[in-house]
Amino acid sequence: MSAKSVIAIAHPNIALIKYWGNLDDEWTIPANGSISMTLGGVFTQVCMTAAENLEHDQLTMDGQVASEAAQTRLRQFMDHVRHLSGKTFFCRVESTSNFPRGSGIASSAAAFAALALAAAKLYDLPTHPIELSRLARLGSGSACRSIYGGFVEWLAGRDHQSSYAIPIASPEHWDLVDCVAVVSTEHKAVSSREGHRLAKTSPLQRCRVQSADQRLEQCRQAILQRDFEQLADVVEWDSNLMHSVMMTSQPPLFYWRGETLVIMEEIRQWRNRGTPVCYTIDAGPNVHILTLSNYAEQVKEKLSQVAGVREVIMAKAGEGAYLLEP
Ligand code: DP6
Repeated sequence: MSAKSVIAIAHPNIALIKYWGNLDDEWTIPANGSISMTLGGVFTQVCMTAAENLEHDQLTMDGQVASEAAQTRLRQFMDHVRHLSGKTFFCRVESTSNFPRGSGIASSAAAFAALALAAAKLYDLPTHPIELSRLARLGSGSACRSIYGGFVEWLAGRDHQSSYAIPIASPEHWDLVDCVAVVSTEHKAVSSREGHRLAKTSPLQRCRVQSADQRLEQCRQAILQRDFEQLADVVEWDSNLMHSVMMTSQPPLFYWRGETLVIMEEIRQWRNRGTPVCYTIDAGPNVHILTLSNYAEQVKEKLSQVAGVREVIMAKAGEGAYLLEP
């Protein structure tokens, strides 16, 4: 064993082109590629300690023993790590985040990106970013994007080898800011894991998947050319398409609340009046509003005045996953 204890940090990400539904649920091979921005300032830190005397892995989250569901998810991930490394020992994992759960920022992406890096180090697995990205994907699909900073694309692929993320542009490339308008902190009734399984029950999923390449290309170009209008157009379109699939799945998934729709309408109006803003919404009611850094304070101020907005969390493009040297 090369080290007894490893600390890794990773940031969450917001999808600009969404991942929703898998070709293969067991290996998390997505139905379509996706693009995201890694979020700075917000992070999850994991401390992973090898424990020869444990009979299974143990997880604490923010100082509390984690739920059975979270423990099971960690153990399934660590079973992949043990299988890949040929090493059989278990570990103790302490995970802490500096952002509230239920805020609309998915914690699993940051957590599994950090876990992949820590586990690769502790179990002597390859630490090339592509290898880490593949490994993180086995814990949480969107985690494969959080290995990198800035703007990132997950190449869907067709199997474990070919499904991983690559960087598109560094965090400094474009001064976009994600303003998360929090309207609810309630635990969501249907997890994204369950949602991915339901996606294929919507007749709209096939259309969404078939047309994804066109949106990926538009989003990639918008990022590379720093073209906010192009970005706004494709980001809102893609988010609306994913929610159309969710709402037409069987059973249907309605993640929006009244406040969500009110914010979407406000954002469209602000943009029509010349402010560079657009919205995107994940599997929950909170709204991510993208803008340029010069406008971020003004957008935050205006969002705080919208009825039902409890808090606005701001994040610029952040760094990829990294190790904290002891
Ligand atoms: C709507 O990657 O969180 O945020 O594999 O269950 O962890 P799990 O799913 P997850 O799904 C993310 C769904 C999304 C869109 C996205 O981030 O691309």
